[in-house]
Amino acid sequence: MVKNFNLMKIKNITCIGAGYVGGPTMSVIADRCPDIRVTVVDMNADRIAAWNSDHIPIFEPGLDVVVKRARGKNLFFSTDIDASIKSADCIFMSVNTPTKTEGEGAGRAADLKYIIACAEQIARSAQNHTIVVEKSTLPVRTAEKIKEILAKNSKHTFDVLSNPEFLAEGTAVKDLENPDRVLIGGENPEAIAALSDVYAQWVAKEKIITTNVWSAEMAKLAANAMLAQRVSSINSLSAFCEATEADIDEVAKVLGSDSRIGPKFLKAGIGFGGSCFQKDILNLVYLCEHYGLTEVAAYWEQVIVMNEWQKKRIAQLVIKKLGGSVKGKKIAVLGFAFKKDTNDTREAPAISVCETLLKAGAEVVIFDPKVSENQVADDLLHLSSQPSQFKCVNSASEACLGADTAIVLTEWDQFKSIEWLSIALKMSSGAWVFDARNCTNHTAIRAAGLNLWVVGKSNQSA
Ligand code: NAD
Ligand code: UGA
Repeated sequence: MVKNFNLMKIKNITCIGAGYVGGPTMSVIADRCPDIRVTVVDMNADRIAAWNSDHIPIFEPGLDVVVKRARGKNLFFSTDIDASIKSADCIFMSVNTPTKTEGEGAGRAADLKYIIACAEQIARSAQNHTIVVEKSTLPVRTAEKIKEILAKNSKHTFDVLSNPEFLAEGTAVKDLENPDRVLIGGENPEAIAALSDVYAQWVAKEKIITTNVWSAEMAKLAANAMLAQRVSSINSLSAFCEATEADIDEVAKVLGSDSRIGPKFLKAGIGFGGSCFQKDILNLVYLCEHYGLTEVAAYWEQVIVMNEWQKKRIAQLVIKKLGGSVKGKKIAVLGFAFKKDTNDTREAPAISVCETLLKAGAEVVIFDPKVSENQVADDLLHLSSQPSQFKCVNSASEACLGADTAIVLTEWDQFKSIEWLSIALKMSSGAWVFDARNCTNHTAIRAAGLNLWVVGKSNQSA
């Protein structure tokens, strides 16, 4: 029998998946809703142990403080997935949804094996009526599949809601505490109301948008596609600026001052990275093709083509400016994370740039303030013929010691104030700085006698 949600509040949340979304999102829910017990479960015991330790597995500004405030009170991290499902009245699915690597749709469609495993496990263990929430980013109409699995494998009843997450890494806590909007798609108004009540404890009611399930699933894919499209658009114009003596900062300022366009997401760079933009656009492309919308699929695919081109063109440009070969040259890579304020390297443009340089025979020395040496090794070992071809060091200055060039690949704030004058003395004569994020002090670099190339600028040295 379906419970009356007007009489019932969500009191006990379980979240399956303690990753970049599940961990921060549940920590903020627990922090803002002291009357709700929140348990985050994961099959990765190391990850759960880290969440229970003083060194939480994700670097996000402010997250450690939020976790410490709620952990052990109403926030728990556990590997006991079945027990946690049993006691929950609301279960969030925050598992990964990577691009399929084999079978139908390989290279494009989202791999739903983790979501399907979750739904099967929920069906096996859930008691009474349970609200199941899609927090992961999913193909449109996945809720249908989840409902089928639940109905087939359980005698209990369920509501399936779509509540996609819009947080960006590096600003996750801020985004969760003060979101532009919370989106809840569903069929049963009572279940929608129960989940809305959770968010309404700290989010203004007018920011909680409710839609049908399919619109919610679709809107998440569309939002990521449109954000990525802006990055590819500004990056395409950066190349145009370099060719024409226009300046990308000036162009972006003009564009952004049009209130219809707006100033955000107009920063030219090395191309977008991160675990989601590419996979979500590929998924959108796959779905469009599935529905026979060939032109629509081709349109969105171009966003990824442009992104790949930007990464390759800048890596090749480094080789060209260094005389056509980097064999045996020492290259300092400043920044490895896919953006500042995160330790995440998934799809980081730095991986692609390092691949090109390693394959061309360069020696690469990497400094990133938050990415661990083990993570860099995981990302690069299979790309290099000899493991000794790359190493990590503890500062920008150390990375530049004896280097022929430095390439800035992540816009960490500390790179704004690098002491180029002293660093230039340690670099080879005629050394270059390639600022692929347009985030360093260009006057200081020039004053130090270094050659400089900046994305989207035409006045390049040498
Ligand atoms: P993640 O890889 O960091 O975390 C997923 C976790 O789920 C892993 O720890 C994994 O061990 C666990 N898991 C997978 N299957 C499981 C199962 N059956 N039982 C228990 N645990 C299981 O992924 P993420 O970055 O948190 O992304 C999760 C989802 O959220 C994706 O769909 C992603 O597209 C979406 N999303 C991500 C972000 C982001 O900034 N990373 C933002 C918005 C939405
Ligand atoms: C992105 C979206 O911004 C989130 O709303 C969404 O929830 C998330 O994807 C997701 O679904 O995973 P995220 O990838 O964490 O968040 O970070 P962004 O700030 O969007 O940056 C993505 C990439 O684009 C980074 O490599 C960043 O450096 C690059 N970027 C972004 C630019 O090069 N220029 C810009 O102006 C903005």
